[in-house]
Amino acid sequence: MPNFKYSLTQLILTALLAATPSGLDSIVELLHQIDDPAFQADLLKGMREGLAGQKNVPPPKGWPELAKKLIQSPSEKVQEEATNLGLIFGDQTAINRLKHLLKSKSANIYVRKKSLKILTERKAPKLVPILYQILQEELLRAEALMSLAAFDHPETPEKILKLYPELSQKEKTIAVATLASRKLYARALTEALAKGTVRREEIDVLAARQIKALNDPQTIVALNEHWGTLQPSTGDKEKRMSVYKKFLTTKYLAKADMVNGRRLYNRSCSACHKLYGIGGDIGPDITGSDRRNLDYILENVLDPSGAVSKDFQLNTILLKDGRLVSGMVSAENKSSLTVRSTAETLVVSKQDIKKHTVLPISMMPPGLFEALEKNEVRDLVAYLATEQQVELPEDAN
Ligand code: HEC
Repeated sequence: MPNFKYSLTQLILTALLAATPSGLDSIVELLHQIDDPAFQADLLKGMREGLAGQKNVPPPKGWPELAKKLIQSPSEKVQEEATNLGLIFGDQTAINRLKHLLKSKSANIYVRKKSLKILTERKAPKLVPILYQILQEELLRAEALMSLAAFDHPETPEKILKLYPELSQKEKTIAVATLASRKLYARALTEALAKGTVRREEIDVLAARQIKALNDPQTIVALNEHWGTLQPSTGDKEKRMSVYKKFLTTKYLAKADMVNGRRLYNRSCSACHKLYGIGGDIGPDITGSDRRNLDYILENVLDPSGAVSKDFQLNTILLKDGRLVSGMVSAENKSSLTVRSTAETLVVSKQDIKKHTVLPISMMPPGLFEALEKNEVRDLVAYLATEQQVELPEDAN
């Protein structure tokens, strides 16, 4: 029963806040009068959700006194929610508390990650030097790499690329995504590609598409030269399909290396699709699909934008600070957009958007097969047709 009451409270609050910003004052007044920590936390959470994506909201009447009281609450949940709201109202004390938590190696790793996430969303000043330090800590490295995309800082590409050879596969993917987020970062990335610090296969089709969307001629020239062009072969789909069908004979498929197929799947598809329970959820789970049917695979992979539904359209959002975010918009309210990419789910404040483009194409990139060698297409297609998971050898990650 309480759950029902609380979620209803939140619904009402969210609606109230959307309708009247001054509704905040009355909620604060109400909070002054109640002592039940669960109810307090719920009201605070409702306020926060109603204000999601907004920044520098003037604190409501009575907030500073209330915050002082709540930050000392015996309930950690209440402390946390009071800090979160303090951030929305621009309380410096709240920011400092989180920076302190983030830096302290003795703090719980979950708390540190959460602090990092909030500080990044708030774009806390002077966070970047702390992020550079944290890059040295394996436990927080992936998060720090992701966070760096939020800040326009000239030293970032150098810091990332210096560490790059030591990164794990997963960290490399994040590093590349971050370097693909801004014009100057992408220049550094393509230079590293030319030098061989970053290898061609470490830049996936999505990152390449994002680099292209940055629209910087210098970077595009370098990308075309060292990575390849993104243009899938044009022309009639039937014709393109027949090219693949011709060489993907039963006999040729029988020679497939399934382990390699799984590796290729991990690299090209699993960021978005689940297969045998593993993978992302940007696109549909394909375990139960018609994936053993070659026509079905070719149709979807060679022409992903053939019949794209609105939910899966690719959005590119250029922020005022030069960051390019691309992905699907999974939610929208008056003040913010929630954008899902393979790397993360970001709440983008509408005030920060310079240009928002909804492209008439799918999140699923074209050219996935064109980026592979013939034998690689064979291995991947054969793997897609398996009845059960193929085990990877011990050493593979
Ligand atoms: C960046 C994300 C992304 C990647 C990478 C990706 N896909 Fe997709 N895929 C999607 C989305 C989103 C859809 C939903 C269809 C649409 O666009 O309307 C989809 C649809 C499909 C479908 C049709 C599924 C259905 O139920 O309709 C198949 C099959 C498929 N993808 C296979 C693949 C294969 C094979 C790869 C790798 C070679 C791949 N995809 C890589 C995002 C992705």
